[in-house]
Amino acid sequence: MTDRAAARDLFRGVTALAPMAMGGNLPYRRFCKQYGADTTCCEMLLAHKLVKASRLEIALMRRHPEEGPFGIQIAGSKPELMAEAARIAADAGADYLDLNFGCPIDLMVRKGIGAAALQRPARLAAMVAAARAAVDLPLLVKLRLGWSEQKVNAPELARLAEAEGADALVVHGRTREQRYRRDADWDAIAETARAVAIPVLGNGDILTVWDRDRRLAQAPVAGVVVARGALIKPWVFRELKEGRPWYPTVAERWAVMARYVALAKEHFGDDEKGLARVERFTLWHLGFWHRYRPFTQADVLAQETSPIQRRVDWPGDDPEELLLASEQELDHRRIWSRLLDGDHPGA
Ligand SMILES: Cc1cc2nc3c(=O)[nH]c(=O)nc-3n(C[C@H](O)[C@H](O)[C@H](O)COP(=O)(O)O)c2cc1C
Repeated sequence: MTDRAAARDLFRGVTALAPMAMGGNLPYRRFCKQYGADTTCCEMLLAHKLVKASRLEIALMRRHPEEGPFGIQIAGSKPELMAEAARIAADAGADYLDLNFGCPIDLMVRKGIGAAALQRPARLAAMVAAARAAVDLPLLVKLRLGWSEQKVNAPELARLAEAEGADALVVHGRTREQRYRRDADWDAIAETARAVAIPVLGNGDILTVWDRDRRLAQAPVAGVVVARGALIKPWVFRELKEGRPWYPTVAERWAVMARYVALAKEHFGDDEKGLARVERFTLWHLGFWHRYRPFTQADVLAQETSPIQRRVDWPGDDPEELLLASEQELDHRRIWSRLLDGDHPGA
């Protein structure tokens, strides 16, 4: 029997890599772990597919030996399926189980999955209870603030989840209807954290040390969860651990990308089929990497909200830096070919 106090302690003081479809691929998680992410988690797996042993969902539960504590995240609409999926996740070797009640995608919420449960507190409570009864694993429950600004109910949902046996919560500080349009509301995260005794991890808009420090001062959270910040700059975890920024040179940024490509080749293989997957993921990641900007403390603190929510031009006119900051797909393809050929600074 897991000691519940120990299960809760697992989440205290952590800087976690968020579960992310595509972005949370195994080599990228390993990459973030190497930079100092305390925990990593696979992307959302659908309970009904796991129960049918879908090959994709089974593959997505794989972890790298360097990862840990490692979570498996499941989403569903029926308590009995969540229980069965929880057992499968435990058998697959998860260190903790993560229940997703935040996914905003229409296709999912129409089926009662993800954020749909925010509107049905009794159903959400039943799913938490079913997963709790099925496995002994530390249980993390992920919430958004509520369905809409008119229906913010995270404190109520947090209390229900705690009563049904959740060991910790993640609160993404936006509603389902807001998606990413609004800045994360850390006052609302704070209110939710105050509503329960279990650890609450805050999630939303952390890109720099100063974002994190400002939010920790604002909300009594036990730790933070980083998603897009980690996609834009995987070294954010090192910055958060060391408490100071790192401004990589152009050569260092190429080296960071080349390192991901190496990890991805190791995982997917470097035969024709493997390389096609490495290319697909690298191009996808360039869609975030190009958004890196060397923000200073003054840039961040000049506004109430994080620069992650703003589009900012690259400062300066160095052609290599402009290439890395380009949002054009053609430029991303150029970068990919140069990575493949080792034709870049620092190679
Ligand atoms: C590409 C991408 C995929 C995501 N996939 C998932 C997912 O599978 N499960 C989940 O709980 N959240 C998912 N999220 C949401 C993040 O975990 C996080 O809650 C959200 O992005 C807010 O954090 P941020 O402001 O640090 O980005 C995803 C986010 C992104 C950007």
